Amino acid sequence: MPSATVWEFRAITATDRSTAQNAPWSRMAMTDVSTQAWRGGVDVDAWQAIGPGGPAEVGELVADLILAPEDDPMADEPEVAAWIGLHRHDASRAAEPGGGAPTDMPLDAPSHAFCKIEEAIAWAQLPMEAGQCAVELGAAPGGAVLALARRGLDVVAVDLGDLAAQVLASPGVTHLAKKVGSLGRADLPARVDWLLVDMNLAPQVVLHEIAHLLPGLVPTLRGAVFTLKLPDWAVVDELPRLVAQIAAFGLPDVRLRHLPSNRREVCCVARPAR
Ligand SMILES: C[S@@+](CC[C@H](N)C(=O)[O-])C[C@H]1O[C@@H](n2cnc3c(N)ncnc32)[C@H](O)[C@@H]1O
Repeated sequence: MPSATVWEFRAITATDRSTAQNAPWSRMAMTDVSTQAWRGGVDVDAWQAIGPGGPAEVGELVADLILAPEDDPMADEPEVAAWIGLHRHDASRAAEPGGGAPTDMPLDAPSHAFCKIEEAIAWAQLPMEAGQCAVELGAAPGGAVLALARRGLDVVAVDLGDLAAQVLASPGVTHLAKKVGSLGRADLPARVDWLLVDMNLAPQVVLHEIAHLLPGLVPTLRGAVFTLKLPDWAVVDELPRLVAQIAAFGLPDVRLRHLPSNRREVCCVARPAR
């Protein structure tokens, strides 16, 4: 019985993590585990005994375990060493442990953004299909562009930086060497199904930079995938405001997740109302 094992763990927990419960990206009931309790010995074997692992099926009870990173300079002696929780799996959640799909980065992928977009597609079940058109703003050197081109999409890669040669040579890839600020709607194909935004700027700046393009893109968009950088941790508190801003572009179905390949950033998928 998975639930029995998890409730035993609640006995060693400290305070309810209300901020996590309220955060838009987490509807799980999470509970802090103090560092002291963690060092005192949490029986991880019991967690592993919960089940065989692998993707969760709808309706299954899933144990959540988040560990504070050991190499975090802020975490020499963290108050919280781990968060544990429990949720029942449904179609809106990631089925794979860790929240992504196991993605092998091909040897010729020029950046780990290849894995980021594959994980986003798997997590949010994005119906990206051959023949569709995608635009990526902040596309060089082209990991995500390569992933989409390999799926048979036509991809317009917008970046002043160069695309890797193998990406540029992929069928369906077009490079627009422009800054987003000087890009007009007429520079892009008439029908754009997917928008990817992966510019290495603070998210508030990114949303300001792309705002002029969105009204012309949204009518045909099936969805957008933003990588929101977290240049400082204060941006985490800004996430609800950024989500509201993205929704106001006309993409009200917004979800956030830190994917396995995300570093100091989160993935934001925004879709038109269903
Ligand atoms: C994290 S990299 C993108 C990685 C890329 N998505 C991939 O799959 O390899 C960020 C990129 O954003 C681009 N960038 C930053 N500001 C930009 C702007 N205003 N217009 C266009 N590109 C921009 C940078 O040149 C840089 O190549």
